[in-house]
Order: sequence, then structure tokens, then C-alpha cells
Amino acid sequence: MDRELAGVFPEESEIPAAFRPAAPTKFRDYLADGEIRIWRGSSLPVLSPISLRRGERLERVRLGSYPALTSRESLRILEAAGRAFGQGRGEWPALSIGRRAAAFEKFLGRIAAKKKEICRTLMWEIAKPYAELEDEFERTVDFLGQVLDAARARERASAKLRRDKGIVGVVRDEPLGVARCLGPYNYPLFETMSLVGPALIMGNTVVVKPPRFGVLFFRHFLEDLRDCFPAGAVNVVFGDGPTVVEPLMKSGRVDILAFIGTSRTANHLMGLHPHKNRLQAVLGLGAKNAAVILADADIEVAVKESLLGALAFNGQRCAALKIFFVHERIAADYLGALKKGVERIRVGMPWMKGVRTTPLADAERVAYLDGLVLDARRRGARILNDKGGAHAGSLFRPTLLYPVNRLMRVFHEEQFGPVLPVVPFGRIEEPLDFLRCSPYGQQLSVFGRDQSGLRPILEAARTQVARINVNAKCQRGPDIFPFTGRKDSAKGDFSRAGILDLVSARSVIAARETARGESLIRSLKP
Ligand code: G3H
Repeated sequence: MDRELAGVFPEESEIPAAFRPAAPTKFRDYLADGEIRIWRGSSLPVLSPISLRRGERLERVRLGSYPALTSRESLRILEAAGRAFGQGRGEWPALSIGRRAAAFEKFLGRIAAKKKEICRTLMWEIAKPYAELEDEFERTVDFLGQVLDAARARERASAKLRRDKGIVGVVRDEPLGVARCLGPYNYPLFETMSLVGPALIMGNTVVVKPPRFGVLFFRHFLEDLRDCFPAGAVNVVFGDGPTVVEPLMKSGRVDILAFIGTSRTANHLMGLHPHKNRLQAVLGLGAKNAAVILADADIEVAVKESLLGALAFNGQRCAALKIFFVHERIAADYLGALKKGVERIRVGMPWMKGVRTTPLADAERVAYLDGLVLDARRRGARILNDKGGAHAGSLFRPTLLYPVNRLMRVFHEEQFGPVLPVVPFGRIEEPLDFLRCSPYGQQLSVFGRDQSGLRPILEAARTQVARINVNAKCQRGPDIFPFTGRKDSAKGDFSRAGILDLVSARSVIAARETARGESLIRSLKP
């Protein structure tokens, strides 16, 4: 344990009053079939990744516990969601998109008043800087509002009669059934709700399980979910993943698996489902996004974007930059400036202004990152930044590794943490080979000025990744673009336009183009 870094954790009295943790709560509620039920069985503890200093020791803050539902209870909840769907004739799927959107807007209005408490609970659960949590909250409300608008536009478009070759008809978006929504711990609110919202608005019923970290904040809006949606339309289960998720998949009664996490878990869950072709999989998976810094790159821009891309929320973003290829002609200048930038990154607690490195949400990740750095050093890489590689409790200092090569684990593995591996290259084929051989294919960043230098890499990479960012970091937004990946990085497009397609099915009602046929089709409710 690095003593200096350990000193970054506060003593209890040093925490500003507005951010002190609430007393640990035994959270017993869950939402099933339109009721908030009280769980009397066992529970799972929640420890914050944030520790308090007590003399020489670091002690993780206890936040409370949540219900550890059994597989039996979880299956009952799935049945309730199935009944609420009622083969598409239940109360929720039978509503028009306009009516469903109105229910959703009511929900958004109610949670708007709870922004502070939701962000504060999340801050203690995943240690994301408070300011970034406020952004995540706003982004969630904004995204959901746009999803509702997109769904309404689809409903309007579906009323339009299409005719050709003597046939007249309409094309409708119909729900698929019960959606199992599982979001990730790096964006527990935004990404979970960006699965739940689209699934619901298209008329599916939903069973949500909060991620591994970022669970307790759900308690702030269980009642709102209960009050704004019909019974069984939204259900929230808590518990150990394998216990509450696997039996549901095995039952064959999950119609949509909306999941953001590792491809290993996604494959495992899909493998349990007995009707593979019926299951609609909406998957946001791993990534190892590369930055390629060409010999004529603007170093200042490349360094600024590299830092943002690699270190925002400690690199715990699927779209983070996770490997850097720098042309050997500018390697010294780029590394010199990047080292300075990494050393300037402020390490601290998530309530501090301007802080960038905070405790890792998954405290176990520290040992993993340490192993990656050790492996790279054994194989010839050096840590370039002062104090790089240091760790204490769940804090891991940003670490700049150079020169990295393909024999090192960090060249291949998704670190999901504040480690920047830099690989020197002489020929453009070297980073291109990395892209071609990588199991992932989410995004790429390329830095350079001359179009004749940029063009070949854009041409070669566009069949390898789903988005190429020129002189900019990789990222999900803005939402006018698809957010997807190739190979083992995603299945489906998570943008507002794309995701509505994934959680619904197009169905056609058509008739011979006679007065009677046309009048019947016109008379159908939207
Ligand atoms: O974890 C992956 C996120 O969806 C990427 O979104 O680029 O806004 O961090 P972001």
C-alpha cells in the first residue's frame, strides 16, 4: 500500500457535511407486480469503494445491504411480468405509444426532484465524481426524453398507408414480450435506464436487476416506478446475479436480454435460454479502443484527447481509449507531454472539485491492474510517470507504460482502469494489424493533420470498428450517431433510433387494395 496515496482517503471529520454518508440502511424493498414488497430473507452487504482513514488503517464505508432474492422469488416476478404482458394484450402493451410516453414523462418529472439524493447515493456506491454524476443524471433524463419523441414519431409514421401492386397496408412496431434489463456499474443510472426506457416505451414489460455496484440508489425511485406504470410493467429484483438471473434465462420466458457487460457473461446467459432464435439479444460488450498518433499529429490535441479518453472516470468506460500507438518519429515529444499531463491529474475523493482519479468502483480491480503492470514491466515496459503504479485501498494512480508490445497482457486485455499502454510503431500496418486481430471492434481514434496520411487508415479501419474519431477521443455521443460495435463489442445499435428497432418487431397488416380493405386498415387503432 502506498502511504502517500492512502493519505488521500479522508478521516470522517474531513468530509464536507453535504456529502457525509448516510447511516447504513438495511434496504428490504423490491418491486414486483405493482407492489413494493418487503424481503424478509437474507441480504447482501454493500461496501463503498471509499475508505475512511482510521489511524494507519483504511476502512471501507459500510453503506447497508439489499435483498438477496431467491431464484424462486425471481421466477415469480418473471411470471408477473409475463402476465402483465399478457401475450401483448395486457394493460401496458395495449396502450398507445402516446399514453405510454405520458406515463414515462410522469416518472421523469417525479425523479427530477430526487436528483441530489440519487447522485449522492451513487457517489458512495461507485465513487464517480459528483459533478459527473449530475451530468449522468441530466443525460439520462435527456436521452429518455429523446427516446419518447422518437417512439412518438414512429407511431405517427406507422399510421401512414403504404400501397404497391394492388396491396395496401400499414407497418407497425409491436413489442416482443418480457425484457430482462441488466446495466453496467460504470453508468448504473444512464445505461440501465437507457435499456429499460426503450423496452418499456415499445410496450414490453421489464424485469430490471441493478448492476453489481450501484444498487442502493434504486430505492429512491421504486415508489415512482410503482405509481407511474401499471402493475407488473416494471419489476425490480435484487440479489446475486447467478441466483436471480440464470433461472429466468433457463425458463425460456425472457424475450429480450438487454445487457451491458462482458461477452463471457452475455454468452453464458444466452446459452441458458432454450429458444435461442426467439431471444432478442441487445448487447453492449467489451472494447479495447486504440488511439493511433501519426507522425504529423498535433501533439497538444493528441495529448489532451488521450488523457480525456483514457482517464475520464478512471478509464472505467467501455468507450475509453485503452491502447495508444504512437509513430516513433514523435514518440519522445508525445510521451513527454503525456507524462506531464498524467502527473497533473488530480487524485482525490469524488466530492472534490476538478478531481479526475477517484477510488475504483470495483475495489478488487486494483490487484488485477497491479498484475497487468507487473507483467508489462517484466517484459520490458517502464512506468514513465512519477508515482505511477502506486495504489492504496481502491485508489490506483494513473500509470503510463512504455514501450508496450504484443507479448504483454496489457496489449490485449481490457484494463477498465487508469493504465495507459503506449506502443511505438514505424509502419501503419502495425496498428492496423492490432485492429484486425483484436476480438473487439468498437471505436478508434486517429490523430494526424495531413489528409493523405489519415485517409489510408480511415479506409482500412472502417471495416474493423464501428466508429472512427479523427483528432478526438472515442465516445458514445452525440446520439445522432449509432452507438454500436463490431465483433465481440456489441450486438445492436444503442442510439435512440437504433435501440427502438431492437426492442420491437415490425408487423404488417395488409389487404387487397379495395375500398373495404382500405377502410378496415384505416380503422385500426395506432
Ligand atoms: O461505458 C460506455 C459508455 O456507454 C460510453 O459512453 O462515451 O459517454 O462514456 P461515454
